[in-house]
Amino acid sequence: TDRLRPSVDVGRVAEVVLTALVEALRAQRAFLLLAQAGERPSLTQFASVAFEDGVGRRVTRAGDGPGAAITDGISGEVLATGSALIVNDVAADPRFRPYAFPVGSLLALPLKGGPSGDAVFGVLNVADRRDGHGFTSGDLKLGATVAGLAGAALENALLVTSLQRMSRELAEANHRILDQQGAMIRAEKLSCLGRMAAGVAHELRNPLAVISGRAEMLRMAVSGARAHSVEKADRDLTIIGEQAKRAVRIISGLSAFARERPAELKELALGKLLLDTLELVRSQLKFEAVEVETVLPPNLPLIRGNEDQLQQVFVNLAVNAVQAMKGGGRLILTAHGSPEWLTLTVADTGVGIPPEHLSRVFEPFFTTKPEGEGTGLGLSIIHAIVDAHGGRINVTSRIGVGTVFTLEFPALKEENG
Ligand SMILES: Nc1ncnc2c1ncn2[C@@H]1O[C@H](COP(=O)(O)OP(=O)(O)OP(=O)(O)O)[C@@H](O)[C@H]1O
Ligand SMILES: [Mg+2]
Repeated sequence: TDRLRPSVDVGRVAEVVLTALVEALRAQRAFLLLAQAGERPSLTQFASVAFEDGVGRRVTRAGDGPGAAITDGISGEVLATGSALIVNDVAADPRFRPYAFPVGSLLALPLKGGPSGDAVFGVLNVADRRDGHGFTSGDLKLGATVAGLAGAALENALLVTSLQRMSRELAEANHRILDQQGAMIRAEKLSCLGRMAAGVAHELRNPLAVISGRAEMLRMAVSGARAHSVEKADRDLTIIGEQAKRAVRIISGLSAFARERPAELKELALGKLLLDTLELVRSQLKFEAVEVETVLPPNLPLIRGNEDQLQQVFVNLAVNAVQAMKGGGRLILTAHGSPEWLTLTVADTGVGIPPEHLSRVFEPFFTTKPEGEGTGLGLSIIHAIVDAHGGRINVTSRIGVGTVFTLEFPALKEENG
């Protein structure tokens, strides 16, 4: 739109043309009527220039209000026939329709354009010679020459105006579409949150039922004060503690989604973070039967990331792998770099994932683990974290052979490289 705007202004062009007519024909007034497309072709006044003694010319534009549609009269005939007309005594002419100003004689000139050059798109009217004489055939010739030149200029200006309008309308339509898209995305997010909330309620119902049941038993045991009640109370307290922790795990897993602000990212070496995390996990998990192998070449590219979140990614992947290798196996971590990406793979020799589950493992609450062991949030949180890092995650698996998760993070360009 902006590129078109300054080039041509129909109002300016009309003013120049009308002024030229008033001056060339020494007329009192000239005005421009433009054709309107519609059921019946009609004209509306667009601009006029009047000559006034002592004042010079005065310009009025139809911008002041919509002009009435003219379908007949002298101008209507010029529109219909495409031929110029001279009417030197309008009062005596049955075709004449009065204007907002007094007119004695009229020279009406068709404005022609279009692809073949003979489509009438407007009428130029010149009213009253200032010397009081009627218009002559010489006046008509001169006027027709001006109208011929004006036609092309006005047509161009009108085209530009309608192009501007179209491009404005397109921009508005585009805006509306973007708004609708935004609304759809918000609605999708809301319904996703709704599904998650339903899942959380479902998941928390069991641990909370166990917690309140055991608490009730404890209360009864303590009030009975029987000999074995201490031993029993101890067992119930342990179960209460476990179930409460499980409920907390579900809630804190969800809070990773609810994060309002994106986590702070800083430059970091992912290989080192991986090794540190492995040490941490090793001390906490039963790795006895699992052999760990790392293939980390030197000079891996740095990435922008959040240490806590990435640590959570590795821990979750390692825990899944170990849980898939109940009878022992190997966990193999590899990394390699390219100018664009840092790629990590986490591979195990576990039970594998059946093909029909592969597309679902990243869904929140998808789990194949028994009650109490898995919430099904691990991989969906990992996915959200990798997304927030501008990265990608993929999984391939073969039943009975093992599973490979591949993670890619955008590599930082080295500043002096
Ligand atoms: N390395 C793996 N080998 C085999 N199956 C896997 C592996 N990793 C994930 N899965 C499958 O994907 C499912 C979803 O994993 P995810 O980590 O999201 O949840 P979870 O481990 O079941 O529970 P949570 O991680 O919340 O405790 C698992 O239940 C399991 O069926
Ligand atoms: Mg898991």
